[in-house]
Amino acid sequence: MEFPEDVQDITYLDNAATVFPKPPEVCEGAIELYKRYGVNPGRSGYDLCLVGGDLVQNTRKTLTRFFGGTDPDRLCFAYNASDALNILIQGMVAKGDHVITTTLEHNSVIRPLNHLKRDGLIEVDFVPYSGGGWMDPGEIAARFRKNTSLVVVNHGSNVIGTLQPVEEIGRLCRERGIRFVIDAAQTAGVVPIDVGRMCIDALAFTGHKSLLAPTGIGGMYVAEGVEVRQTRYGGTGVKSAYPYHLEEYPFRLEVGTLNVLGIVGLLKAQEYIEKRGMTAIYTHEMELFARLQEGMQEIDRVTLHGTTSLKNRLPVLSFTVEGLDPSDAGTMLDVDHNVAARTGLQCAPLVHEQMGTAPRGTVRFGLGPMNEEKDVETALEAVRQIAAGS
Ligand SMILES: Cc1ncc(COP(=O)(O)O)c(C=O)c1O
Repeated sequence: MEFPEDVQDITYLDNAATVFPKPPEVCEGAIELYKRYGVNPGRSGYDLCLVGGDLVQNTRKTLTRFFGGTDPDRLCFAYNASDALNILIQGMVAKGDHVITTTLEHNSVIRPLNHLKRDGLIEVDFVPYSGGGWMDPGEIAARFRKNTSLVVVNHGSNVIGTLQPVEEIGRLCRERGIRFVIDAAQTAGVVPIDVGRMCIDALAFTGHKSLLAPTGIGGMYVAEGVEVRQTRYGGTGVKSAYPYHLEEYPFRLEVGTLNVLGIVGLLKAQEYIEKRGMTAIYTHEMELFARLQEGMQEIDRVTLHGTTSLKNRLPVLSFTVEGLDPSDAGTMLDVDHNVAARTGLQCAPLVHEQMGTAPRGTVRFGLGPMNEEKDVETALEAVRQIAAGS
């Protein structure tokens, strides 16, 4: 297959979809480990297999520490955040339960819940956000019922970037004995998370965004004392004579051969994040974002959606250009300016309904750790030209 030359010159502002490019040392380091130790970890006793198993276990330990967890065996791998959220949601509710979530959710929360609801198993409340896009913890607590068993909240919006007060929500849930799950797809790797302090019972993460690993790896951390029912069964590599899926973690929530390349990618990416510093990465992204937002506010016929506050947010900006369908604006950015953005509803239809941008959605710019000032200037010039010509 031949690749177009200009792929290299792209101004990539679609980091909320996936961070690109990944740091070269993460890609190269992961491939090197995979080349040397890419056997089926934990399945046999030969040396390579033991080293492979250690690499997996080290990744569990590193990520457990990173999320403030206590037991590395409760760090379970899955394909991505969507997969982990399915496992958590389906494994944490029972018939007759009431679940509370928000209008900020991604379809990876909305759809599993809607399926359970359509099957007559649960009732669901989607609580609207307040003001600029933040949840009022009191609004969630006001919906608590006797049969409320679970609250699921998106930590960072992939449409408007707002970071939710998960600690306050977590405390309210803990006081009532209600399980609290967060979707950390957009935040893991760039915003500090401490499952203990934040009273989080389980979190779902994806590897390919700010955790800077390849696609196809993600997972969950399940706090001690929290039990998630298995909803998938299969091989675990150990206790093969036992006729049912194992109860103990991490096997309980994992089936089949693990994504070793993805897992060592997570490990190498943790080294990168530690070296560069998570706060330094966030500050870098937010400095660029401040310039981007300021520039966008000055362009005639451009409307920014969501809050313009620079506090408690991710560097994600949603906008529309008067008289232009967002998908056409996205095509112009791509074809005429080689700027990559995401358009439409970004898999989060309820935010757009509440914002009044459904059904066409918005154009979304998402900044990442590899962006530079010149990317912001290129994007601003592109939007200026598109808005002037539309
Ligand atoms: C808030 C949020 N949740 C969940 C997901 C799903 O992540 P993945 O596609 O890696 O499963 C995304 C991805 O865009 C997201 O932004």
